[in-house]
Amino acid sequence: TRTIGILTSGGDCPGLNAAIRGVAKAALGQGTKVVGIKDGFRGLVENRMRALEDGDVSGILTHGGTFLGSSRDKPHKMEMGGTVMDMTEVAVSNAKKNHIDCLICLGGNGTQKNAMRLHEAGLDVITLPKTIDNDVAGTDITFGFDSSMAIATEAIDRLHTTATSHHRAIVCEIMGHKAGWLALGAGIAGGADVILLPEIPYDMDLVVEHLLARRHHNKRFSIIAVAEGAVSKNVEKDGKKKKKSIPDEEVEGLIEEPVANRIAREIQQAAGLEVRFTSLGHVQRGGSPTATDRLLSTRLGTKAGELLAEGVYNVMVGIKGEHCVAVPLHEVAGQTKIIPRNHAWLKTAMLVDTCLGDRMG
Ligand code: F6P
Repeated sequence: TRTIGILTSGGDCPGLNAAIRGVAKAALGQGTKVVGIKDGFRGLVENRMRALEDGDVSGILTHGGTFLGSSRDKPHKMEMGGTVMDMTEVAVSNAKKNHIDCLICLGGNGTQKNAMRLHEAGLDVITLPKTIDNDVAGTDITFGFDSSMAIATEAIDRLHTTATSHHRAIVCEIMGHKAGWLALGAGIAGGADVILLPEIPYDMDLVVEHLLARRHHNKRFSIIAVAEGAVSKNVEKDGKKKKKSIPDEEVEGLIEEPVANRIAREIQQAAGLEVRFTSLGHVQRGGSPTATDRLLSTRLGTKAGELLAEGVYNVMVGIKGEHCVAVPLHEVAGQTKIIPRNHAWLKTAMLVDTCLGDRMG
């Protein structure tokens, strides 16, 4: 009998449990043993795992988070009792000791790279693209994105009613790491007046001009959706460190000032508007997956089960159009999918008079 291990790694998102269930049910259904590994790659290194039966994955389809637990630990740079060590060989040998023929890794870009490293160290793997950021190459969409976009859209809707009542501008910071998919999708769906993205460095003068023009047309409120990775045109980039609001030595254990706060301050100063800011934070990763994500996670998970049966390893299961596809892992690992300048959503945003902080031409 063959055995697979399943782990979830990196930031959690809605749809993880649905995907675990999909993989496990498809695998158990064909007589494959399934081992659940706790807390991502750390659990593999620390040998924390147990066999999963059908009952373990029943009733979890709708649950947020991951019942296996997750961590951001990397096998090749793992903190072990205060020292950072390369634990790749331990990870591979623990998998082999537990008779794991193939390791199924559910995760984002970091996970794709870590899975690739384990593959290079002699372990067969299959990965699934999980992240609210939607920034994994080789797939049209990642699971978790739709749920998170729905949460951020609802938040923008709620900010709209209070912004309208008080005639304010409200800056809303949306996650997404170095990609703007979430801010752009939720911004369009929520009707944000300004959307600032990492892919398009913004010019604050244009933002202020847009907000003042709205005021001039008697629109007395505005919503500014800001991706956490948004950068100003004026900030020195490439090689030079971005100016931090708190010096490095004081940052430890603290979070840097959210970009929304800085932008709100700049708008207040430059436009003289009454401004508030809010950062959606981890709310965007919590709770139950949408129907779209449940379907996607189940399709990707069960496709992984099919690939196992066919003996197709060292691939990421992606979605292309209507179909689940197996993409060679080496084509995905190390890539980040950002919004291309000619993406249709950008045009859509401009056609509804959304300011993207740049004259896009
Ligand atoms: O990758 C998912 C994500 O939520 C990003 O959007 C965000 O930058 C990051 O994770 C936050 O990480 P953490 O949960 O470690 O604070």
